[in-house]
Amino acid sequence: MLSREENETLTRVGPGTPAGELLRRYWLPVAVAGELTEKNPAKLVRILGEDLVLFRDLKGRVGLIADRCSHRGASLSYGRVEERGIACPYHGWLYDVEGSCLECPAEPAQSRFHLTVKHKGYPAQKFIGLYWTHMGPKPAPLIPKYDVWARRDGRRKIFIQPQLDCNWFQAMENSVDPAHLQILHQNTAMKGRTPVNTTRGFTDDIEQFEFYESAYGIMKKRTYKSGIVDEHPLIFPNILRQGNGTQIRVPMDDTHTKIFIVRFFPTEGGRIVEEEGDPPVEYVKAYKDPPDAVHPFTHFRMDEVQAQDHMAWETQGPLADRTHERLATSDRGVVMLREIMKREIAKVQQGLDPLGIVRDAAQDKMIDTKLEESLHGPETQHQLRIPSREARAGV
Ligand code: FES
Ligand SMILES: [Fe+2]
Repeated sequence: MLSREENETLTRVGPGTPAGELLRRYWLPVAVAGELTEKNPAKLVRILGEDLVLFRDLKGRVGLIADRCSHRGASLSYGRVEERGIACPYHGWLYDVEGSCLECPAEPAQSRFHLTVKHKGYPAQKFIGLYWTHMGPKPAPLIPKYDVWARRDGRRKIFIQPQLDCNWFQAMENSVDPAHLQILHQNTAMKGRTPVNTTRGFTDDIEQFEFYESAYGIMKKRTYKSGIVDEHPLIFPNILRQGNGTQIRVPMDDTHTKIFIVRFFPTEGGRIVEEEGDPPVEYVKAYKDPPDAVHPFTHFRMDEVQAQDHMAWETQGPLADRTHERLATSDRGVVMLREIMKREIAKVQQGLDPLGIVRDAAQDKMIDTKLEESLHGPETQHQLRIPSREARAGV
């Protein structure tokens, strides 16, 4: 159980909040690169409680700047994109990709007024078919080379999940909650087996759960009575590495989360794949009906693992109230994550880098998240079946 204050500390993401400042130390994906087109060169994105516009100017430079115009607040996402940047639709104030104001057209010809305008801007970097940003203090660190993102002996595919209408930390706690797999997912992830009963699901398959901290997060280890061991990490603070992919949870605000899944499909025989352009993207159909309603005014599909997870996370509430929960021994991974969050928040407050930040180019090597072991695990083999066909079609 947490106090109200602890709950706020671990979950809220706006500027100046403890978790929000922690999250601002990491690179976060904001949009699929292919979503910026000639026809639609600007896109409104909400991230960590801030409304921003991602745009590509006619010279091909990409920027991410505050959406609300510094003049009188109209949305720049309706702006006109030109060679020098994006011009506000209302009175034409022109901003470049860094947010510098280049012109205020209705001011007198010799006016230097635009030089006094400070408009917020963040870096935008393209990586594995996504635009990423870093909203923390400069200099920004490097984007870590996790194996799923950096391996060259295969192809990647991006899946965009339906918007999750709850706080990001509910999804992260789920990533260190291995007991739920055998119960919540008993009819979807167990290959058609029949459980002893629906209460226990497949709980009795498990010998034990263990957790240990790694250089980039928490490793979760399930040992089955059959002798099979399944290990995969929570990459701190907002990523689950599971099966053949990473599930990157990006808080839009305190009660909405965007989830990007990047999956890796190895080639046969470890053949290296030369750069082939951006990975293909699939937009996953809604898990809810109606898709934009929240519990209890919506109905979740329960026929897929991810749909079941979204149900569990969202029905805990838009921002789960942890002042009334009853944690049990099987929640020790959740407790560990909260403790690490508190410790890393304290580091950020002291001006230090939190867990997993890579700055030194010499240390910028591929990071082993035990993907190789997962690729041979029973769950991943299932996930790889479709893609090996897709791989031939250029996935
Ligand atoms: S509100 Fe943007 S230029 Fe006036
Ligand atoms: Fe799950």
